[in-house]
Amino acid sequence: MTYDVVIIGAGAAGLMCAATAGYRGQRVLVLDHANKAGKKILMSGGGRCNFTNLNTTPQHFLSTNPHFCISALKRYGPQQFVELVDRHGLEYEEKAPGQLFCQHRSQDVLDVLLTECEWAGVEIRLNTQIKQLVRHGDGMRLQTSQGRLDVGAVVVATGGLSIPTLGASGFGYELARQFDLEVLPTRAGLVPFTLHPELKQHLASLSGVSVPVSVSCREQAFQEPMLFTHRGLSGPAMLQISSYWQPGDGVHVNLLPGASVLEALKVFRQAHPKASLMRFLTERLPKRLAQTLCDWHQWHQGHIADFSNAQLAEIEAQLCDWWVTPAGTEGYRTAEVTLGGVDTRQISSRTFAVEELPQLRFIGEVLDVTGQLGGFNFQWAWASGVACGESF
Ligand code: FDA
Repeated sequence: MTYDVVIIGAGAAGLMCAATAGYRGQRVLVLDHANKAGKKILMSGGGRCNFTNLNTTPQHFLSTNPHFCISALKRYGPQQFVELVDRHGLEYEEKAPGQLFCQHRSQDVLDVLLTECEWAGVEIRLNTQIKQLVRHGDGMRLQTSQGRLDVGAVVVATGGLSIPTLGASGFGYELARQFDLEVLPTRAGLVPFTLHPELKQHLASLSGVSVPVSVSCREQAFQEPMLFTHRGLSGPAMLQISSYWQPGDGVHVNLLPGASVLEALKVFRQAHPKASLMRFLTERLPKRLAQTLCDWHQWHQGHIADFSNAQLAEIEAQLCDWWVTPAGTEGYRTAEVTLGGVDTRQISSRTFAVEELPQLRFIGEVLDVTGQLGGFNFQWAWASGVACGESF
């Protein structure tokens, strides 16, 4: 059997591209070194795959070339993926505004993709190592653990570096370098923060506590829940801001976003002069957090009437102007995505082909395009996969 297109990586982008190219009459083979296709899809969204976001815009993506993603996202938007899963009868729900999750399990999304690949006549070979890839005339030659293949085009859909136990590898970056493409520095994104020992000790008793906060760093702000963990800080707020954070940066946290806390403290002091600050706090924050803050900042537990305006202003600052300087992140071991990657400036935003070598293409997360939390990364995988597949 000979193939027109070989796709390296049976993940979200690779399978989407394979089905699209297969429907266009291309003989498509997907190769993956893992023993199962779509492992990240299965793990995603806490086992229920947040497969798209209805509010996707190019502004939800980080890239040194921010215009690159516009074309593909415009041609294949969230609604098109919803139509696809609807045709398969997949049941889903909007868990947060725009964020669509499987009602049952992530496997349902993978089943849609594998069924599409089957209908499109795509062949998938797992447990296959790619040993070498070279240009061969107008096409490409692959040396694999299962023999040699001469094909018209190769699509690299090997994803990022996060969670190596799910099959992640830097192979796509190695290939890019081999063909003289620039690979922008990579780092873990959508990843929990670790803390310096002293702060970690203050917050140790809070593991498992979640609280809605607003966080900001480098002119990006998010209002989402924050989760205290035994290693540091996580939850959607911290995962989101981690993609913008650089080592050494402080992260600004407001534990009581919304109304003016100083005003509320003064009103409370007027209304309940004999109540404690702890009561004010437990009406607004989880009890364990309120207690930890009182102990940490040594706020006294006498009558709130005994606090001066200056003391209340200081309490407000400690609640609403908390600057945390993380020690680091948990890294690729737990990160949802990889920031950076293959520089898109040498790639066509229409076909995803390397400009100087159109028989070689890169799609999905291996590229320097990374979505925020909320289904955007899968939408990028679908959109880039379809755009590339349609160009064959
Ligand atoms: P993906 O990683 O899906 O696929 C790459 C494939 O290439 C894998 O099958 C791998 O085995 C294969 N491969 C790698 N190296 C190879 C080699 N050398 N030879 C052969 N094959 C090789 N996003 C989102 O939008 N909503 C969500 O709910 C989540 N949830 C989530 C949870 C967790 C735990 C993680 C780690 C990630 C998410 N994500 C997410 C992110 C999302 O999973 C990710 O962005 C996409 O899977 C990227 O799709 P790709 O196809 O580019 O790579």
